[in-house]
Amino acid sequence: MAALSRFVVLISGNGSNLQAILDACASGELAASVLSVISNKADSYGLTRARSAGIEAVHFAKLENETRNEFDTRLANYVASKQPDYIILAGWMRILSSTFLSVFPNRVINIHPALPDTFPGTHAIERAYQAYQRGEINHTGVMVHLVPDESVDNGPLLSTEIVSIHPNDTLESLEARIHILEHKLFVNTLKTLIKETTH
Ligand code: GRF
Repeated sequence: MAALSRFVVLISGNGSNLQAILDACASGELAASVLSVISNKADSYGLTRARSAGIEAVHFAKLENETRNEFDTRLANYVASKQPDYIILAGWMRILSSTFLSVFPNRVINIHPALPDTFPGTHAIERAYQAYQRGEINHTGVMVHLVPDESVDNGPLLSTEIVSIHPNDTLESLEARIHILEHKLFVNTLKTLIKETTH
C-alpha cells in the first residue's frame, strides 16, 4: 500500500472543511494523514475539531513587531518541519507571501466558494447572492486551486462546480448548499490529486 499523503491544514475559523478532510482520512476515503492544523486565530473552532481528532492544533499568531516576511518565514519553517506533501488552506484568511509560497511550489491548495475570476476575497457567497438579487448572475460555484502567488483566490484550477441560485433561496440556504458541496468537492479533489501523484 502506498504511504499516506502528508497534509498540514491552515485555517482561521470554523473548520467545517477541515472536518470533512479529517473524516475522510479517518474513514480511509482519503489516503492521507493530517499532521498539524494551524490557525492564525486563537479562537478558531477548527482547532477544537483538530484536538478532538487527536491531531496537533497550533495557534500561530503574528508576534508584535514581527514583519509579514518574518511571520511567513517562521510559518514556512514550522510547516516544513512537518514534511508535508500538501498544505491545505481550508478557510485560511491571511494572504501568504512568496516568502512562504516559494518554499512549497505546487503544494499549496485553496478552496474558494465562488467560480474562477468571480468574487475573490471575503464574503464571496454574500456578494454572489446580492449579484443574483440584482439579476446579474443566476449561478455561482466552488473552486479548488493551487496557490502559486499572492493573488487572492486565483491560480491553476484543480476543480470547479457550479451551484444554481434559486428564486426562493435565502443567503443562509445558499450558504448551506455551497458548504455541503465544498466538503464533497474538496475531499474528491484531494483524492484525485493524491492518486495522480502516487502512481
Ligand atoms: C469556506 O467557505 C472556504 O471556501 C472559504 O472559507 C470558508 C471556510 O469555512 N475559503 P470553514 O472554516 O471550512 O467552515
